[in-house]
Amino acid sequence: MRYQKIILVGFMGSGKSTVAAAVGRQLNFAVIDLDNAIAAAEGRTPAELIEQDGELSFRELEHRMLREVLRRDERAVIALGGGAWTISENRRLISEQEATLTIWLDAPFELCWKRITSTTEKRPLAPTIAAAEQLHRKRQADYALADQSVHVSENDSAEGLAEKIADFALGARASRPQ
Ligand code: S3P
Repeated sequence: MRYQKIILVGFMGSGKSTVAAAVGRQLNFAVIDLDNAIAAAEGRTPAELIEQDGELSFRELEHRMLREVLRRDERAVIALGGGAWTISENRRLISEQEATLTIWLDAPFELCWKRITSTTEKRPLAPTIAAAEQLHRKRQADYALADQSVHVSENDSAEGLAEKIADFALGARASRPQ
C-alpha cells in the first residue's frame, strides 16, 4: 500500500464520515473526521463556529487542523468537511503531501438533502433546499478535481463503498512499481 493518507471529499450528506470509518476498518487505517477534530480542539462544533464567528474564521481553523492531521505520522483515512476541498489552499496543501489519495463521494443532491434533513446535525451553510442545491451545483467542479470518484446511490452500503475505495488504494499499488 503506497498511500499514507486517504482523503474523502464530497458534499454534506454524501457519507464521508461513515464511509471513512468503514475504510479504516477494512484497511486497518486510523480514522480522522476533520470536523470532529476541530470540535475537540475548539470545544465547539463547526456549525457553532460558523454561526458564532463566521465562515471565514471557521475556514482558518479548518485549514490549520488539516495541516495538523496531514502531518501525523500514521496511515489514516480522513473525512473532510464538505467545504474543505473546495478551497484551493487546502487542495494545494494536500497535493504537496506525498502518498495521498483523494476520493470524491459523488452523491446526487436529492440523496444529500434527504440525509441533511433527516439528522439533528446543524448545517448552517445549507439552510434551505434552494441554497443547498445551489452550493451542491457550484462545488461539483471542485470535487471533480479529486484523484478518483465513487458514485453514491441510496442503496449503497458504507462497507460496499469502502471496498471500492480500498480497491483503488490497493490497485494503485499493483500498477505502480514501488
Ligand atoms: C460544511 C460542511 C460540514 C461542516 C461545516 C461546513 C460545508 O461538514 O464542515 O458545516 O461547507 O459544506 P459535513 O460535510 O460533514 O456536513
